[in-house]
Amino acid sequence: MNQPAIRVLCVDDEPLNLSLLEAMLSPRGYEVLKAQNGVEALEKIRTESIDICLLDVMLPEMDGFEVCRCIKADTTQDTVPVIMITALADIAHRIKGIEAGADDFITKPFNASEVLARIKMLVHVNILNNRLHAAYDNIVGLSMFAEQIICSFDPFNFVLLQKIDSIVQHLIGKGAGFTNGPQVVVIGMVDQAEYQWFRYDAFALDSRRSSMTMNIDDTFVFAPVKSPLMTFHNEADVKMAAPELVAELTAHGITVTNMARYATESFCLTALNYGREVTSYDASVLRSVVIQSLFLRSLAAQIKDTASAFEYTVFALARASEANDEDTGDHILRVGNYCGLLAQQLNMPDTFTQDIRIQAALHDVGKIHLAAAILKKAGKLTDSEWVEMKRHTLHGSTIIGGHQRMSMADRIALSHHERYDGSGYPFGLTGHQIPIEGRIMNLADQYDALRNARCYKPAFDHDTTCRIIIEGDGRTLPEHFDPKVLAAFKNIHEKFAAVFEASNQTEKVKTTVNGG
Ligand SMILES: [Fe+2]
Ligand SMILES: [Fe+2]
Repeated sequence: MNQPAIRVLCVDDEPLNLSLLEAMLSPRGYEVLKAQNGVEALEKIRTESIDICLLDVMLPEMDGFEVCRCIKADTTQDTVPVIMITALADIAHRIKGIEAGADDFITKPFNASEVLARIKMLVHVNILNNRLHAAYDNIVGLSMFAEQIICSFDPFNFVLLQKIDSIVQHLIGKGAGFTNGPQVVVIGMVDQAEYQWFRYDAFALDSRRSSMTMNIDDTFVFAPVKSPLMTFHNEADVKMAAPELVAELTAHGITVTNMARYATESFCLTALNYGREVTSYDASVLRSVVIQSLFLRSLAAQIKDTASAFEYTVFALARASEANDEDTGDHILRVGNYCGLLAQQLNMPDTFTQDIRIQAALHDVGKIHLAAAILKKAGKLTDSEWVEMKRHTLHGSTIIGGHQRMSMADRIALSHHERYDGSGYPFGLTGHQIPIEGRIMNLADQYDALRNARCYKPAFDHDTTCRIIIEGDGRTLPEHFDPKVLAAFKNIHEKFAAVFEASNQTEKVKTTVNGG
């Protein structure tokens, strides 16, 4: 990457002085721009890309101090270093120059070595300064981006490649805060023992990802176990430092001018052809984005694992309570699904819908405390047996306990036999005294009970069940249900039928497999 010539603006009303400066600077590779007064100088600073300004103090109309003050007062150009040209030993002018914001001074008559040394030093300091500002901008951009990633983190829908897509968009300079980013990014990852390679091109419309085949030794590209690689190479050393990789990229039509790379044993991110020199800072940025992505992937997997273990435990506990119950098998799955459908229809939040689908399974967990003689009794229960039966709601609440994560299951266990008109148990609550999950569960449980045979009744088909729930049959009455829940049921009752039929099919398959 050829560095562009340093552009020096020389400001002096004496054409001879300008010619002297030009004769000194041009042969040494500097590009010299000239201005003979303050207005012209300010215009050039504003419109040309100036690296440094040599400014004579004595100018007609607007003097050098005034010009310097104007340059330093404008935040779009105040980083341009200004060297003021004063007469020898003119202390008063130097103090005035410092107050105006001058970065350095040279004296007339010029000493060529001194002028060149001062220009070189100030330009170098300015480059470092600009690099620091760019790094700061990148850090700000990166932390804003990280915040955005964390805020939008959804472990249940986490896809690593999608996350990488958005990160690469930022790296190649399409996101806020990144400057002179890489033109090409190549990603290699090991996914289920398969090596996959992708490339992103900054010049493509939206730097879309495309697959690529790399004919290269994976042990070279990926890092050894537990020893991540973090490297950066500029034009002078790029071929020497990574010849195999450069040759392979060249074969893919990518001419490598510089690269920064971070690789683990299963992931490798190579960013190529930045619009400037690369430094260890660029490699660190890659490391942080890779680590962040892999961390999120691992976190998502752990959260999903925990959620699935939680779900498994809930169902295991629910199944344990079914031993002597007339509702067995997929009843707990079906009522969960009915509840989910009703919750969705009622526009409850997604978390509520997900929770009720699972936690509804524990509605009858309290039955584990009831005697089989009561649960399996073919005839009518005596009054005392009824009292005992009603207690399964309270037992359920005791078993579930007070953990926050199970609070919905607790409310369901306690309130799923309450009725909207106050005729339910255990407390005879009415209307909205009954938690919404209890009101939803009551209808879901009723539907499933009606669809299945009981010792006192046959299994009803879907139409009969709907009629009983919506119109009542003397035993079940529409007033038992929350009118909004009942209205939701009326709208989606076919979905209840589909859940029931699908569950029936599964039961049949199970029976066939088990030889029943
Ligand atoms: Fe119950
Ligand atoms: Fe039930």
